[in-house]
Formats: sequence, structure tokens, C-alpha cells
Amino acid sequence: MVFPDYRPRRLRRNPQLRSLIRETRLSPEQLIYPIFVMPGKGKREEIPSMPGISRMSVDQLGVEAKELLGLGVQHVLLFGLPEKKDAAGSQAHAKGGIIQNAVQELKNKVPEIMVTTDVCLCEYTDHGHCGILEHGHVNNDATLEILAKIALSHAQAGADIVAPSDMMDGRVAEIRAALDENNFDMVPIMSYAVKYASAFYGPFRDAAECAPQEGDRQGYQMDPANSREALREATLDVDEGADILMVKPAVAYLDIIRSLREEFDLPIAAYHVSGEYAMIKAAAANGWIDGDQVMHETLLSITRAGADIVISYGAKEMARLLNG
Ligand code: PBG
Repeated sequence: MVFPDYRPRRLRRNPQLRSLIRETRLSPEQLIYPIFVMPGKGKREEIPSMPGISRMSVDQLGVEAKELLGLGVQHVLLFGLPEKKDAAGSQAHAKGGIIQNAVQELKNKVPEIMVTTDVCLCEYTDHGHCGILEHGHVNNDATLEILAKIALSHAQAGADIVAPSDMMDGRVAEIRAALDENNFDMVPIMSYAVKYASAFYGPFRDAAECAPQEGDRQGYQMDPANSREALREATLDVDEGADILMVKPAVAYLDIIRSLREEFDLPIAAYHVSGEYAMIKAAAANGWIDGDQVMHETLLSITRAGADIVISYGAKEMARLLNG
């Protein structure tokens, strides 16, 4: 059928027709809101490069969670800034560590909020790398045991989902085994299966004070030029027992989201990262774009590409927009 018999504009005539044939819908239920937790009491500090996002102390989390639930956002992803850092990142799995306390606080105060924790070392090591450093390189196998310890300590504190973001080989299997041996066989792993060595993480590294002191993360995070390798990474994580596969960043990697969607039947998450968020905010603050509309279009695109779950700093404002 061709013009003039077929006229695509017939179904675009008014909002009711457009919404009838809409293929992709955003909903607050698919969003996860990241939160940076800092030491102290009664603290909220705006992050300059991430307008609208604050680091907050543990005692603030209850109020934050209630606000999110009120908007229909049921999931948070926690990142911690520890009181002190050391070479082995020991505060990451410490009893009474920042994330362990944060999880407990949330589960005590607002049990309905679902808490996912970031499992990584970079916020806890004094050198800022995601694992144990040896002669300037991250030692993969020495890091695995520590990652498993971190994930277990989060589960023990009450985490609903653990999300390893370190990009060590073999960590999903190691974490799954540690959880299962300790009766946490019902705690899912959302694996950062495909995480690129991306410059879009810039604002996050300010927020979480975790930029590497020396070198970069290209020895463990993926080369942005590669897409076949993304399928190999994801296959490994599926075989090791991942429950949800994540792609990160999101907007610059929509093709990767789509190819994972086509290859795998697990739920796919995409992380709309700090730099992607900051660019929208900066342009909106200048009056160059309509920030709300661009945020909506962006998160919609990520969903259309094939993500079931979207992790975004824009989750709150998006939920507000969607709720009308
Ligand atoms: C920790 C981690 C990072 C992000 C999430 N987990 C930073 C990094 O790998 O350098 C980035 C998130 C964002 O930019 O919003 N490994």
C-alpha cells in the first residue's frame, strides 16, 4: 500500500489516536533512582555537576524513600562514600559500613522500597580502582573474593538486589556462590554485564569521589568501539547466573541495548549515567532545550531500544511528568 491509499498521518490526527497506537510507554515502575549516601547526620549536599541530585546522610533516606514511593518509583540503587578509604577497600564490606547502615535504615523505615546496592571497590579504595592493585594493575582473581564478601554483607544488611559494577571476570559466579552458601539464594544479581570505559561517568566520579588516582579503567571496562564483545560479556554473565543484564552508559549505546534484547531473554537494564544526565541539565539551564521533554524522549528511547529497566537520576522528575 502506497500513498495516496495509505496515509500514515491518519493515525496521527489527534492525541487519542496517537496514544492508541503508541508502541512504547514509560512508567515510574520501570525506573530505578540512584542515591549517594555520605557519612554524618542531617546532611544533604548538592552535587554541582548533577543539578537536582544531592548526596545525603543515612538519616535522610527514609524521607527520600517515602517521596519516591509517593511518585510511584519503587527502587533505589545505593552508592556509598565511606568514612575512610584504604588500599583494599575494606570499608566496603565492613559491619556498620555506610551502605550496610543505609540498607538497614531503609528496610527498617520504609520496607516497601526495593534496595539495590552497587557492588564495587572504587569508592572504598584510596587509589580509586575497582579492585586490588598490584604493580599498577588490578588483580582480577584477588578481587573476586572481596566482591563476594561485599555482596554478602549487603544481602545480610537486607539488600533486595545486588549489582556488581566492577567488571572483573568471573565475579557473577563468585557472588552467586557466596550468596547461595549463606541462604541468600533469593537475592537476584543485576550484573553490569556490559560496562564501557566511558567519559560519561565524569560527574559520578566527583559525586562518589572515586576517580582513579593513576591510570584509567580501560584495563577492565570495555572499549566503546566494541559490540560483538558485548555479547560475549553478557553470555558469560548469563552462564554465571546473572538475573538481570545491564548496559552502561545508555544513550550512546542504544545499539548494544537492542542487540542484547534480541540475543537474551533475561530482563535488560540500562544505566542513563551521570554525564548523560548532566548534559540535559546543562542545556536546559541555558534555555537551549526543554529539559523535561528531552529527559522524557531520552528515557523513552532507551526503553524503545529494548531496556525493561531504566536507572536514571531523572527518575523523580520523570515520574512527576508521567503522573501528570
Ligand atoms: C563504580 C561505578 C561507576 C558508575 C557506577 N558505578 C563509575 C565508574 O565505573 O567509573 C558510573 C555511574 C554514573 O556515571 O552515573 N564502578
